[in-house]
Amino acid sequence: MDKFVITGGRRLQGEVQVGGSKNSALPVLAGCLLADEPSTLTGVPELRDITAMVELLGELGCKAQRDPAGRMLVHAIDQTQSYARYELVRTMRASICVLGPLLAKRKIARVAMPGGCAIGARPVDLHLRGLIALGAQIELNGGDIVAKADRLRGTEMFLGGPFGSTVLGTANVMMAATLAEGATVIESAACEPEVLDLADFLISMGAKIKGAGTPRVVIEGVDRLHGATHDIIPDRIEAGTFMVAAAVTNGEVKLSNVRLDHMMAVVDKLRQVGVHVEKDNGKVAVSSARRLEPADVTTQPYPGFPTDLQAQLMVLLCLADGNSAVTEKIFPDRFMHVAELLRMGADIRKEGPTAIVTGVKNLIGAPVMASDLRASAALVLAGLIARDTTSVSRVYHIDRGYERIEAKLNALGAEIRRVPE
Ligand code: EPZ
Repeated sequence: MDKFVITGGRRLQGEVQVGGSKNSALPVLAGCLLADEPSTLTGVPELRDITAMVELLGELGCKAQRDPAGRMLVHAIDQTQSYARYELVRTMRASICVLGPLLAKRKIARVAMPGGCAIGARPVDLHLRGLIALGAQIELNGGDIVAKADRLRGTEMFLGGPFGSTVLGTANVMMAATLAEGATVIESAACEPEVLDLADFLISMGAKIKGAGTPRVVIEGVDRLHGATHDIIPDRIEAGTFMVAAAVTNGEVKLSNVRLDHMMAVVDKLRQVGVHVEKDNGKVAVSSARRLEPADVTTQPYPGFPTDLQAQLMVLLCLADGNSAVTEKIFPDRFMHVAELLRMGADIRKEGPTAIVTGVKNLIGAPVMASDLRASAALVLAGLIARDTTSVSRVYHIDRGYERIEAKLNALGAEIRRVPE
């Protein structure tokens, strides 16, 4: 296991390229199970979660490998395997999105039920409810979800849950419905750009999908899908993380490969705090005012402020001049970073799903521990501005979702060393 040793106080300057979206690439890779022919994907980031998905696809008879140009070629060769083992699902919850494609294409899927994780309970009841509505028979056997259906049938369904829409649930049901008989209507579908990107990929495979990116998605089932070529959208969460990195260090950073239209809630909040975010010749320039204003933020399904940037924004608010309230409406327990930030001199008080953040003059370096992907990224951001040295242990969490984050930040002037623990 590695840890990061960060020397704080460096001002970030320069240009950084944002990678392809992890949360888009994972369901798109699973979607490749729906065709007999190979698909070619560009912009698939090099991450631990992607490696885990490639390994899972391999066990399912689907070969995924990069060509010398970095494109990923994915081909479901052996259609007889339908079992996603707990050992693989446990390391990456997004494995659940093979459930819909396996069921639709191979008529049977056995996928280990994902357990809880550092950000909360994370049930999959909505995924199952949607598939049952399409006519699947589902039972739980030895901790595995076993789903069967000779032919799925289109229907109307409401896929909202207690915390709103579900991203991977919408992806799973949408993928299954592409090969169902007749039309499926998903009401309260997730509107995240990653769902739209998946729909675009499925459409290029021959699927008939309308309304993706809105709460009402209509899928007209077809008999078969074919291979396709697809470019994964830029990662809006990585982009947001670099925006906060520029802002906290009072730096001046230009980002390329950014879809600002996917980040309006984030940009709006950053501007409220005093961060300048401007379009600049196809790139995005980020710099910040010396005095940061406090702000209240509530995480919400897209187009609201994303839960995946809550921890990172909190670091920025730790430096604001006054009190901010950060309310988590998607994963109410996603505050593992708070205790670690307190170790670095932050002033944060938790009240249920809300954290009251009182700005401090500066943070102080300390040994801290990464717990989940985004909390870990927040600790790296805190380390960038902290006095003295910060060590962030268990950085394998960061490697799950950020491509060489230390190399990218160091190229901007940060001082981060990766050392064995
Ligand atoms: C996706 O997870 C992302 N993962 C998460 O990103 C992200 O935090 C989350 O969406 C919310 O935006 C991937 O795309 C791989 P949900 P997902 O189903 O789809 C509840 C990261 O850091 N719910 O949209 O699993 C659930 O508990 C990761 O990159 C049910 O009640 O999240 C939550 O409160 C972490 N029943 C809410 O819905 C269900 O069946 C939204 O979860 C499913 C979800």
